Amino acid sequence: MNNLRLSSKLDIIKPSASLQVANRAKELKREGRDIVDLSLGQPDFPVPESIKTGLFTALEENKTGYTESQGVLELRKEIAAQYKGVKAEQIVVCSGCKLGIYLTLEAIVDPGDEVVLIEPFWVSYVHMVTLCGGKSVNLKTSKHKGFIPSIDELKALISDKTKAIILNNPNNPGGIMLPKELLDQIVELAKEHQLFIIADEIYSDILFDKNSFHSLCHYDYERIIITNGFSKNFAMTGLRLGYIVAHSEIAAAINKLHQHVGTCAPSIAQYSIIGNMEEAYEVDVQTMVSTYKRRRDLLIEGFKNTIFSIIIPQATFYMLLDISKLGMKSLEASSYLLEEFGVATVPGIAFGESIDDYVRISFATSEKVLQKAIERLSEVKAIG
Ligand SMILES: Cc1ncc(COP(=O)(O)O)c(C=O)c1O
Repeated sequence: MNNLRLSSKLDIIKPSASLQVANRAKELKREGRDIVDLSLGQPDFPVPESIKTGLFTALEENKTGYTESQGVLELRKEIAAQYKGVKAEQIVVCSGCKLGIYLTLEAIVDPGDEVVLIEPFWVSYVHMVTLCGGKSVNLKTSKHKGFIPSIDELKALISDKTKAIILNNPNNPGGIMLPKELLDQIVELAKEHQLFIIADEIYSDILFDKNSFHSLCHYDYERIIITNGFSKNFAMTGLRLGYIVAHSEIAAAINKLHQHVGTCAPSIAQYSIIGNMEEAYEVDVQTMVSTYKRRRDLLIEGFKNTIFSIIIPQATFYMLLDISKLGMKSLEASSYLLEEFGVATVPGIAFGESIDDYVRISFATSEKVLQKAIERLSEVKAIG
């Protein structure tokens, strides 16, 4: 159709590099090919029983109307209690962590402002920054340093246009965690330049090997905004429940936007959490994390006799495979693994140029499927 006169904003948002491979995987599946799909980014577990009961109860009690825009007070109190010294007025509950990040960026970014992203980063950040009129500035990292930047590398990117830094810790796509010393330095740097820090902590409950997580809520700096949610830890991606934790004035500003674009998070999802969080953590989250760990260990073992070296994830359900022995960059490698071996992965380039020698796989799938993937990927030979 000619001249639809859609917004020019859409021209600057590029389709994700991963879509190309994902669409081809769908096509092959439709044609009847047996594809081992390791590209998915959501837990393969059911919602915890206590949350399920909470959902049914909320429905039975007809709690299906709009709620307070900022989120049901009881829920906000329970979320606040997870963070030391935080009050309910500092929480905004919304439809997923993703919306929380977008609202936060809308609340702080003016046209021309720069937002620093650390590679590898979650794909959506770039597009959200662009939609807000900002410019993302990518901090490159290297495999030799485990994709952990130095504070000097970060400092070098700060200018008078810099407004914020986004940290995703632990990160998607690698399950990489930023060391506490670096977080200390980043907060100091942010204070010095009065920068906002958006700390996306959505994977903070999925930790392995007794890694302890250092939330940004431990720092006394009013421009830190934490985004989190229940999609990953409680395996409820489709129920759309996320939240932000911020200084009360920032929370109020974000909620002002939320009132107009989101109204409120789904009511039954909000009520389902109230009074049920503890049981979900004790029973379900523990089981999920130990299952993810078993799968991760299976992959670590399985990839030993392949051409792929891996980055051992300390958290999340993602793993990065080094594909450099294929003599291809990630998009080509991802297509090759799909077409020739029937394994769907996400090309590293989707997460920044620094990891174009990697593809991301997800282990949010059964051991049987992972075993099959290992068998297929063991057949892959180095090229060149
Ligand atoms: C790093 C990161 N942040 C945020 C999200 C979005 O989570 P939600 O489903 O709560 O919107 C995802 C989902 O894949 C993610 O990987």
